[in-house]
Amino acid sequence: MDYFNYKQDVLFAEEVSLKDIADEHGTPSYVYSRATLERHAKAYTNSFKAMDGLVCFSVKALSNISILKVLKDCNCGFDIVSGGELHRALLAGADPQKIIFSGVGKSEAEMAAGIEQGILSFNIESESELMRLERVAAEMKKIAPIAIRFNPGVDAGVHEFTKTGRKSDKFGVSIEDTIGLVKHCIESKYLSMVGLTCHIGSQITELEKFEQAAHQSLKMLCEVEALGATLNFIDMGGGLGVTYMDEKTIQPDELIQCYERVFQGRSERLIVEPGRSISANAGVMITKVEYEKEKFLITDAAMNDLLRPALYQAHHDVWQVRKNNLEPKNYNVVGPICETGDFLAKNVALSAGEGDLLAIKTVGAYGFVMSSNYNSRPRAAEILVDKDQFSLIRKREDFSDLTALEEQPND
Ligand code: LLP
Repeated sequence: MDYFNYKQDVLFAEEVSLKDIADEHGTPSYVYSRATLERHAKAYTNSFKAMDGLVCFSVKALSNISILKVLKDCNCGFDIVSGGELHRALLAGADPQKIIFSGVGKSEAEMAAGIEQGILSFNIESESELMRLERVAAEMKKIAPIAIRFNPGVDAGVHEFTKTGRKSDKFGVSIEDTIGLVKHCIESKYLSMVGLTCHIGSQITELEKFEQAAHQSLKMLCEVEALGATLNFIDMGGGLGVTYMDEKTIQPDELIQCYERVFQGRSERLIVEPGRSISANAGVMITKVEYEKEKFLITDAAMNDLLRPALYQAHHDVWQVRKNNLEPKNYNVVGPICETGDFLAKNVALSAGEGDLLAIKTVGAYGFVMSSNYNSRPRAAEILVDKDQFSLIRKREDFSDLTALEEQPND
């Protein structure tokens, strides 16, 4: 469910015409709907019935600080994977006690920053990482809170690149090795095991996969408990899929109810780390058709602005900002970058031509955050719509931004 709709043949974000946004801020631009973000965040936060819950939005999906502020105001915490994301979450005013630090390769500096800020937990993905964190905490004479991310061996999701819960994936600690790490934590002066976590992948549309992971977590929880550790939370990660084409998706309350059924009678808090299911439908990218050439519409947006089609062969619907009654034709919507892989959509029926505006849908997650300056193209602007108002939340980059960090050593 989102708030992008046609009004008299023009596409609106809430009560703002996308044409007006393009006129004021140019193209390509990412446009987000505040009402959609809030609706999705609340769909999660209102779903907890039996368990105390915390929704940690996965910052990697959409990390603009104005967006993080909107989600913080919906009582969300944050799932971060880098010092940069910690910085952003803190700038947005996040409560450190609602920040979870995930990721397989945390540096010493990132660990020290997390300990210093007093975050809720480091989600640990290997023995070496646990030892490093213990050393960093000991040097700081502080206790680091940790959750072990175990790998439940569940194969879920649609794309090879975003599956994370299989034994062969680089993520998490095997079920067998988790026990050894728990024992180490129990004896450590500088580590406190506060939770258990897993994350099986992204764009998952089968509830059974989440259920399988939850059963594995429950089993693991009982084993950990038998060793004498008392945990504060069980974190089930993110992964809920969204509709890009015609996928039938699971609603946040179905997911939370499923977890609550599996964990019935447990006193731990339940944490989830959704990214895509909160922000994907809340964003579109508007772009202008520069040229029509045979079956191609060449737009001013390219793979550097939206990488998902090129990287994952992902499908995004393309809508005309202004509808008309002309006969549609099948087009490939492509960008100006010098690669055949530079496309935004293939074989879409459109009645658009040069100068027309298009909206690429469902790009609020893993859209702007994965953009780059490839071909020395300045990054797009980001705009947040709130009812009948819109604000620029990230300026369009200009040429000076492209070269700002470059030095020219004297020879
Ligand atoms: N928690 C952890 C530990 C994760 O690694 C991820 C995503 C999430 C939560 C959030 O998952 P979500 O609810 O968004 O599925 N760039 C890819 C997606 C990569 C997902 C990486 N991890 C894409 O565009 O499809």
